[in-house]
Amino acid sequence: MSTESETPGGDLAGRHLVLGLSGGVACYKAAELARELQREGATVQVVMTEAAAQFITPATMQALTGRPVVTSQWDLRAPNAMPHINLTREADAVLVAPASADFIAQLAQGRAGEILSLLCLARPRERCPLLLAPAMNREMWSHPATQRNVAQVRADGATVLGPAAGDQACGEVGDGRMLEAPELRDELVAFFQPKRLAGRRVLVTAGPTFEAIDPVRGITNRSSGKMGFAVARAAAEAGAAVTLVAGPVALPTPRGVARIDVGSAREMLAAVLPLAPAHDVFVATAAVADWRPADVAAHKIKKDGSGAVPALTFVENPDVLATVARLPEAQRPWCVGFAAESEDVERHARAKLASKGVPLVVGNLGPATFGRDDNALLLVEADRTTELPRASKLALARQLVAAIAGRLPPGRAT
Ligand code: CTP
Repeated sequence: MSTESETPGGDLAGRHLVLGLSGGVACYKAAELARELQREGATVQVVMTEAAAQFITPATMQALTGRPVVTSQWDLRAPNAMPHINLTREADAVLVAPASADFIAQLAQGRAGEILSLLCLARPRERCPLLLAPAMNREMWSHPATQRNVAQVRADGATVLGPAAGDQACGEVGDGRMLEAPELRDELVAFFQPKRLAGRRVLVTAGPTFEAIDPVRGITNRSSGKMGFAVARAAAEAGAAVTLVAGPVALPTPRGVARIDVGSAREMLAAVLPLAPAHDVFVATAAVADWRPADVAAHKIKKDGSGAVPALTFVENPDVLATVARLPEAQRPWCVGFAAESEDVERHARAKLASKGVPLVVGNLGPATFGRDDNALLLVEADRTTELPRASKLALARQLVAAIAGRLPPGRAT
């Protein structure tokens, strides 16, 4: 996932996090996690159980965070000798990564036998949320006792991140792997974003399309898909259920986003059209090819030695956005178009409001933005134009999501 940040200080700037480690091999990932969180601007206070210290040393975590690591409830360094109280009073969240099966069991029972479970119990729940990143063997994870405990800690207000499926340290394969450090960082960043689209469903198209000439050649464009992927991520961070229909791009899927890969404009339309009525918002960021070769050769077109070039003829592609915007009102999501122009952005974007039949067109300078991590946007609507000055695509996507959330009519019953 990209590390673009909304604020110059990072997406976690000003956040103070307690990073708790309970016992598990995944403790090795906690070192990188501490760094990732700090890279986004958070301050990180590490608290470790005795078992965690068997897997990674407090010295490592202290050196990485620049703060004395707390490993005991009998830590008398603070004048009031109450580390279990002090640690969470200034914290914006407690993240336990790894959270072992035993640790989750302790939480479920409200036990407080050592510093980490003690501080979780003693934290001010209404303003210091608890996030858990489970890490354990797949049999331990799927055991009814663990599942019962996880359900209980969720019911008590904890947020459970993961676990992922995959290779395990024990050599087995299955559910129970702790999420990777960058994934946990992104989860934390998302956790703190305002949930402006909670309960909404958002459909996004992104990237170029690929229009085949023959089995090995085709016509495409320079769209990287970054803006659309940023919109999908920002919508997911805002609490929406997001479906991303992507043309051929080399980008990782944002966490929590359902992705459908397509090639041509017609494939994009075929993927989008049946999904559109089940979504509240449709954001068309894709740079859909306007034309495709009229005929696709069944075999590779060969040179015949005469110097003659193939005569390609083109036909117009369907307009994905305009097709969705023409759906009957009861099936039509709130549509947002993008306009990639090479000059006079506002005029062209305004013309597209009418030609596409949508309430909002986002204008930008195409050649200046393709492939870059930053952009500048113009939100063009019938009655106003709003400038979003140059910033990272993710920062702009979050502003766009806020704008969409503010304009969205009340939810449709589907
Ligand atoms: N779009 C689409 N399907 C197409 C063409 C465009 O869904 N076949 C969408 C794009 O995703 C974007 C908007 O329509 O949201 C504007 O696309 P753009 O290519 O800038 O405009 P065009 O309609 O193609 O007009 P022109 O090429 O003349 O600028």
